[in-house]
Amino acid sequence: MGENRKRILTGDRTTGKLHLGHYVGSLSQRVKLQDEYDTFILLADVQALTTHFEHPELISESIYDVAMDNLSVGLDPQKVTFFQQSQIKAIAELTVFYSMLVSVNVLRHNPTIKTEVKQYGYDDITYGFLGYPVSQAADITFCNADLIPVGDDQLPHIELARKLVRRFNELYGDTLHEPKAKLSDCPRLMGLDGNAKMGKSLGNGIYLSDDAKTVSEKVRCAVTDPERIAIKDPGHPDICVINKYHKIFNEPEHESICEMCKSAKVGCVACKKNLAEKLNNLLDPFRERRAYYEEHRNEVKDIIMTGSKRANQIGEETVRKVKTAMHIEL
Ligand code: TRP
Repeated sequence: MGENRKRILTGDRTTGKLHLGHYVGSLSQRVKLQDEYDTFILLADVQALTTHFEHPELISESIYDVAMDNLSVGLDPQKVTFFQQSQIKAIAELTVFYSMLVSVNVLRHNPTIKTEVKQYGYDDITYGFLGYPVSQAADITFCNADLIPVGDDQLPHIELARKLVRRFNELYGDTLHEPKAKLSDCPRLMGLDGNAKMGKSLGNGIYLSDDAKTVSEKVRCAVTDPERIAIKDPGHPDICVINKYHKIFNEPEHESICEMCKSAKVGCVACKKNLAEKLNNLLDPFRERRAYYEEHRNEVKDIIMTGSKRANQIGEETVRKVKTAMHIEL
């Protein structure tokens, strides 16, 4: 693992298996970047507790699931450092220090927090939930990450991390490294139910671990153009979810599919079958790698333990510097 390369840090909450939306928005980019950057992948089990503290058993099971999702798409454990958030002492310590440098009002106005509050239907929120972006700043800075590949919903959090770093350095001297967000170039994936977002908590996902039959079935049940009732009716590809998926997962055929849809030369059933096939072709190699790791769970555990050890070593050094800068070392 080359120490001279720039460092990437990103990760996922361990609240369930990852889906195609995660793949196009984030995982596919990680795979591309892993050769060029020293890549850290965080299994965010502490952040998962902010919304799922009543179901810790789901969180611990999901640590394996999320690790396997990442491994299955082709992240190479020889190149990438996988680690478990709750094992990293520096993250907990830095979270406490950073919490002095951010006001409650700033946290309250975070647009992603606001969206999530609505999405989960909270009428009150915990201190931990309100403060998770502070903990996320610790995730990012403990290892001096340069780049944070994320979807646009995470931008407010990266911005907060950057502000915290600047504030810290201003107050205590140049100590922390300022990270930058790296936005995914792929648009957000809609849910097959027509929802603007494929979401773990929205029940509309195609999971990376779904078998071929499940994927075909989910595609078969997807909503399409509501104005197209009979096969001879001309379709409106611009308002069809399946068509949007063709654009992402079947780019070479996309244009001709639009034409055939508009002129009623292809029906929704055939169009969906075609898409399901393309999705299954994409997912097949992931399924194969996943099957290997399912059978070698101990290897997955080793990967996480080894990565966490490395992360702790790096984190210790950062905390030492932070404490020195803050004059709280004897
Ligand atoms: N908040 C991210 C999500 O919900 C997960 C996450 C936790 C993360 N810590 C991070 C992402 C640090 C990037 C960097 O998906």
